[in-house]
Amino acid sequence: MDVILRCIDCGEEYPPDSSRYRCECGGLLDVVHDLEKLKETLSKELFDKRWGSRKFPYDSGVWRYKELILPVDDKFIISKPEGNTNLYCSEKVSEFVGVEKLAMKHEGENPTGSFKDRGMTAGISHGNSLGAKVVACASTGNTSASMAAYASTGSMKGVVFIPEGEIAYGKLAQALAYGARTIQIKGNFDDAMKLVQEASDKLGMYLLNSINPFRIEGQKSIGFEALQQMDWNVPDWFVLPGGNLGNSSALGKGLSELVELGIIEKIPRIAVVQAHGANPFYRMWSEKKEFEAVKEPETVATAIRIGNPVSWEKINKFLKWSKGLVEEVTDQEIVDAKAIVDSSGIGAEPASCASIAGLKKLVEKGVVKEDEDVVAILTGNLLKDPDLVVNYHRGTLKNLRSTYQNKAIQTEATLEAIEKVIK
Ligand code: F0G
Repeated sequence: MDVILRCIDCGEEYPPDSSRYRCECGGLLDVVHDLEKLKETLSKELFDKRWGSRKFPYDSGVWRYKELILPVDDKFIISKPEGNTNLYCSEKVSEFVGVEKLAMKHEGENPTGSFKDRGMTAGISHGNSLGAKVVACASTGNTSASMAAYASTGSMKGVVFIPEGEIAYGKLAQALAYGARTIQIKGNFDDAMKLVQEASDKLGMYLLNSINPFRIEGQKSIGFEALQQMDWNVPDWFVLPGGNLGNSSALGKGLSELVELGIIEKIPRIAVVQAHGANPFYRMWSEKKEFEAVKEPETVATAIRIGNPVSWEKINKFLKWSKGLVEEVTDQEIVDAKAIVDSSGIGAEPASCASIAGLKKLVEKGVVKEDEDVVAILTGNLLKDPDLVVNYHRGTLKNLRSTYQNKAIQTEATLEAIEKVIK
């Protein structure tokens, strides 16, 4: 494999054929590609030629960029295939946020309904190349759903660690249905994350959280694909939700590589949006202080209910590079933004709509200008969390208003009754 692993803190290097997630010094690892060499072969034209290919592995919106993801032998690739998600525009959402040129990249259209499939195909293919038989992850739901499906596809055993009672039903259902050994931890995601790292080390399981640098490589393809869909015209902003901060780090890393390769010239600004009750990175950024974990993270957007994000150092570097920023939004802002995204016919899960709520706030503050080009990433599918949707429209969400309520109507089963309701 033509890549190396490098510590983001001390620069120590390691070969890529190891299942190591941290440097000896404790720092996080990055996958480093030989961009100088890749300059000779990679171009917009090459990626455009592969677009729409029905041939494995280029039929995947991740492996289309294979050289920049993981230069592994095709025989190790486990792909469903993922990516190739739509970019949507909606007058209704644009009006809500106050930006006309808004495109929403809907990652809920991936095979298991979230952006995690992009990182998963890269991570699990790397594990496969090392001969991994058992794979593990801690999750707020989507990673576990994705890993469970990919493990089954690759005939591996999947073991997921999830916080008991804290993940959305659709995601729990997926982990069980795809056949993963599902362990519900008495604790939150941060507890599960700590435990899975220890368990993977001691029990020889291949770890598939975004602390695994090969996961990050796959997730870079969201940015690549969005740019390719826009004929490589770079927007002014990318806006996305932040939980464990792997996805935003991936976006930053991918964009910086495209700039280095000369495939794009302009650097888009990255805005990361956290939920107010799970906002350690926002606090660090806005108060200009040391990073400090949030002990009891709390938000209706369970996907990003994370108090001690693993990858904050990685995204910190790319936010500076991209003149980016961090915003926070309340649960009320999230559920209302979600109601707008849903009723526009697009639909997404709560954490995804933190992007839209955050963008609205940034426009109101005058940070994002009305005439700027924005790509917002919708990270997960509407059906991941049906409970929240039904409770919002019933008006039964605890401590939250249902500003855009669409209540179901109960009537007698007669034509007269229906006529009355419709009028
Ligand atoms: N949106 C959704 C739908 C997610 O599932 C997640 C993370 C995020 C946003 C945040 O991405 O963690 O890379 O900053 N879900 C993880 C999981 C933690 O376990 O499924 P991040």
